[in-house]
Parts: sequence; C-alpha cells; structure tokens
Amino acid sequence: MGNVLLFLLLSLFLEGVFAEEVTVKSGDSVTFYTDPNIQEGNVIDWRFGPQSDLIARIKRKAKTSKVYEDVLDWKFKDRLRMDNQTGDLTIKNIMTADSGDYEVSNENGVKKSFKVSVVSDDSVKTISVVKGDYITLLTGLPDMKRISAIQWRFKHHNSTIAEMKTGNIFIYDDTDERFKDKLLLNYTTGSLTIANIGTEHDGDYEVDIISSSGYTLHQSYNVTVIVPTGDFKSLIIEEEGALVTLQTGTKIQVNDLIQWRFEDTDLTPGGNLKDGLNMDMKTGSLTIINPRRTDSGFYDLKIIRSRYSIHKKFTVAVYGAPGSPICGPSGWSSGAVAGICAFLVAAIVALVIYFYRRIANLQAQLYDKKDTLMSTMSTLSDKNE
Ligand SMILES: *[C@@H]1O[C@H](CO)[C@@H](O)[C@H](O)[C@H]1NC(C)=O
Ligand SMILES: *[C@@H]1O[C@H](CO)[C@@H](O)[C@H](O)[C@H]1NC(C)=O
Ligand SMILES: *[C@@H]1O[C@H](CO)[C@@H](O)[C@H](O)[C@H]1NC(C)=O
Ligand SMILES: *[C@@H]1O[C@H](CO)[C@@H](O)[C@H](O)[C@H]1NC(C)=O
Repeated sequence: MGNVLLFLLLSLFLEGVFAEEVTVKSGDSVTFYTDPNIQEGNVIDWRFGPQSDLIARIKRKAKTSKVYEDVLDWKFKDRLRMDNQTGDLTIKNIMTADSGDYEVSNENGVKKSFKVSVVSDDSVKTISVVKGDYITLLTGLPDMKRISAIQWRFKHHNSTIAEMKTGNIFIYDDTDERFKDKLLLNYTTGSLTIANIGTEHDGDYEVDIISSSGYTLHQSYNVTVIVPTGDFKSLIIEEEGALVTLQTGTKIQVNDLIQWRFEDTDLTPGGNLKDGLNMDMKTGSLTIINPRRTDSGFYDLKIIRSRYSIHKKFTVAVYGAPGSPICGPSGWSSGAVAGICAFLVAAIVALVIYFYRRIANLQAQLYDKKDTLMSTMSTLSDKNE
C-alpha cells in the first residue's frame, strides 16, 4: 500500500517535471503556452538549453516584460515574441539549432517545459500552381491525436477560411466569395484542398495547429497561381495515332512523388510506367505514344511534395481516323467526316466536362457532409462515454 502511494506521488511529481515533446519543421513558428498556475506568479521566466539561459522575463509588479535576444550570440535575434499578459512565448522561423529544452517557471517554483526537436525542411516555400489545378496544403499530421483545433487563414484578408474544432469542420466560404464551394478540409489530417484554383487565390496561407498539450504550430504556405501559356492544355482532342502529350506545366523536384491515373487505372504502378506511355523525367509530362479511341477519357496527375500536393485533371478525346465507322457513314468525303467527327467529339467533350465539373463539385460537397456526419457521430459517442 505504502509502495503504491509512493509510486503515485512519484509519478505525480514526475508528471510535473516531464517535458512535453514537440516536433517542429524548420522555418515554421511555434507558440508555447504557460498555464494559470504559472501566471499567478510575479516573475515569469523562460529559459533555454543546457545552461538554462534566460530568454524572456515578465515582472508583473514592475509592469515590465522583456525578451533577451542577445543571449547565445544573438541566436534568437528578431525571433522571440512574448505575450506580456499570459507569458506565452512564440519562436518565429525556428531553426534546427533551436532544438532543446524550453522551460517556463515562476518564483514559486511552478514549472512547465517543452522538449523541442526541430527537423530540417528545405522544401521550396513558394508553391507554384497552374490555374485550374487542385492544390492540397498538407499539415504533415498523421492523424488528429492530441490536436484540439486546426485553423486555416488566408492572410491576404486575415480571415479564417476553414477550421476544425470540437470534432467539427467549419468552412467559411460565405464571407469570402472567392472560396465559395472550393474548399475541402480533410477530417483525418486537417489538410486543406482548394479546388480549381484561380489567380484570386494567390497569396499566403497559414495554418495554426493547436495541440491539446499546450502549444501551437504555425505553418505558412506561399501560393503563386500561374496562368499557363504555350502548349499547356487540359483538354486534348487528337486523331488516332497522333502523339498525345499531357503537359504538367511544372518542373519535377527531387523527392517528388508522381502518380498518373487514367480513369480508375494507375498508370505508374509501383513507380513503373505502363507500356505505350512515356514520361518526361524533367517535367513529368506524359506522352501516349500511339493513342487509340479507347484512350479517350479522364487523366489525373498527382504530384506529392512534402508540404503540399497538386492535382491536375486532363480530358483526352481521341477520334477515329477519317472513314472510321464511329464518325459517319462511309462514302462521305473524308475531309467532311474528319470535320464532323472533330465537331462531334468537341461537343461530347464539352458536355462531359460540364458533367465532370458538376460531379467534382458534388463530390466535394459529399465529402463535407460525410465529414460533418462523422464528426457528429464521434461527438455523440464521446458524450456517451
Ligand atoms: C504590455 O504591452 C502593452 C503594449 O505594448 C503595454 O501597454 C502594457 O503596459 C504591457 N504590460 C506589461 C505588464 O508589461
Ligand atoms: C488578424 O486576425 C487576428 C485574429 O482574428 C487578429 O487578432 C489580428 O489583430 C488581425 N490582424 C490584422 C492585421 O488585422
Ligand atoms: C484525407 O487524407 C487521407 C490521407 O492523405 C486520405 O487517405 C483520404 O482519402 C483523405 N480524405 C478525403 C475525404 O479526401
Ligand atoms: C511569397 O513568394 C513571392 C514570390 O517568390 C515573394 O515575392 C513573397 O515575398 C513571398 N511572401 C512571403 C510571405 O514569403
């Protein structure tokens, strides 16, 4: 009995001293929160590293607060912010050398600490995306464990456009017309998809990932929307046998994951390209070497990078050679048949695109409904427990 009590006391004691483990990607920012017990103190100190160097201090009675950016050879220069009421500390643009222990305490000996690992992330911070693409800004979270809220902001207007809290998803596309029916928040990862992106979506996006363990990660995404020029087409109409090339309009970067799909078929299974296709290793563009009518349909490209993924859609219509039965009765002049054929195909393709857009929209809405339903269910089951 005595042993059990001692163990309980010990674990309570250890709990108070144990550091919260925090993983941050370099270049991001992080905010550590104090708590009411710490805020009760008169002097609140933040210390960092093996020597416990003082990096920030509030003296309540004297009404002063200060961050000490000169410590450790100015390593924190221009990167520390402290809320002078709560003592919450933000480290901006964090670097791998900022890894280590951060501890906040008051003169009563109340403490809280964070063990920070900064993992290097040298991915390109500016995201170039072609008008009409779908882009998903990834949080990098495997799941929502220990996350109490996710908040996405479009900094241009400083408005929250989507958030997830108390297990529910909220999309604020009514206040900002440009995002109407274009946003999708993934319930599992908190990642944000912007569908059919346009130049009006150009700008900086920021996500706050609020952990239930007393800290918030701030990640930002600099999105530039480019209007494609030259031979970039998302609708391709070609005759059988002519080369069909689906231009990506981007350059492939090291560590990119590239996935091409045709309807429901993976064209790059296990990282290998199927027969009859060719892929440009610099751009990822796909060429169908000897296209047949059966190659008509929807092609999908996904480029997955560390911070985001790009999703492109192509519509390909391959029409039969002049005189082939699908385009008109034999005996017509082949020029006329080709013309009619191209016209028919274009008309059909236009219809298909129209329905495809509608389906994509509906799908997005369905995902929304499903997510809301799922979150309602999980909220209910939480209540039942
Ligand atoms: C906190 O900062 C505000 C604005 O800079 C200032 O007016 C206020 O006096 C400060 N309070 C303390 C306790 O330092
Ligand atoms: C941006 O929004 C936040 C939260 O709504 C607010 O605290 C802040 O003052 C705003 N900043 C600007 C520059 O409007
Ligand atoms: C959410 O993201 C996960 C992981 O990337 C993915 O498997 C899932 O299909 C996504 N859900 C939706 C509704 O897009
Ligand atoms: C975003 O990228 C553009 C183009 O590279 C640059 O001009 C701009 O300053 C960047 N914005 C931020 C906040 O980094």
